Amino acid sequence: MKRTLLRTGDGSYTLHIPEWNEQYHSKHGAIAEANHVFIKSGLSHWFANNEPNEISIMEIGFGTGLNALLTLLESERENFIIDYTGVEAFPLTWEEIQQLNYSSMLNISDEKFLAIHKIPWAERTAISERFKLIKMQQLFSEINIENAYNLIYFDAFGIRVQPELWTEEIFQKMYNSLKTSGILVTYAASGNARRAMQSVGFNVERLPGPPGKKEMLRASKY
Ligand SMILES: C[S@@+](CC[C@H](N)C(=O)[O-])C[C@H]1O[C@@H](n2cnc3c(N)ncnc32)[C@H](O)[C@@H]1O
Repeated sequence: MKRTLLRTGDGSYTLHIPEWNEQYHSKHGAIAEANHVFIKSGLSHWFANNEPNEISIMEIGFGTGLNALLTLLESERENFIIDYTGVEAFPLTWEEIQQLNYSSMLNISDEKFLAIHKIPWAERTAISERFKLIKMQQLFSEINIENAYNLIYFDAFGIRVQPELWTEEIFQKMYNSLKTSGILVTYAASGNARRAMQSVGFNVERLPGPPGKKEMLRASKY
């Protein structure tokens, strides 16, 4: 499917899919959304409520690597030890990666962002002393892992364009892959998504959303 570059409200770029009229991030701000939904409501929340300074994370929809980059920066700032798995069936091209402006928006050199993209698929690689990354090129429906993660960044395309990813079947896989006390965060807030999460056993909270969005969801496994 064709993808074009789009500047979002905070100046950071995202990718736009004309065929679906869908973006990889919020039009109101890619970095702002990622920081609010995944870093503040996911990563920081988890560390505020759990003792060890180590965490294992799975990202559903690795895409541009923005969430991985922000998480890497957070591991350096806060001394967190992070094991990060990014799942993605349709990786970006090198040309698309080079057009993204996240490093300059974040005032860092491009080294870390490019390292995240350059490592081979399916090989757990240390990007820094505290941040290990494995990128898995696979469909979400192929995920069959149990009791492995503390936190899931659920960043699939919206329910309007990919309703098959917001179902009990997929959330059952997410639930199984989390450890006890694990959490899943997503930018989405639709009632159907929330009910699908609840029906597989998640306890779901509605939280204030990122810029331009009233609510988001955080689901916990007890
Ligand atoms: C909303 S975008 C992800 C945004 C990403 N987290 C980022 O920061 O750029 C959704 C991602 O899911 C991927 N995707 C869509 N359907 C998929 C599927 N069935 N299995 C695996 N990946 C899929 C897309 O290629 C896209 O990269």
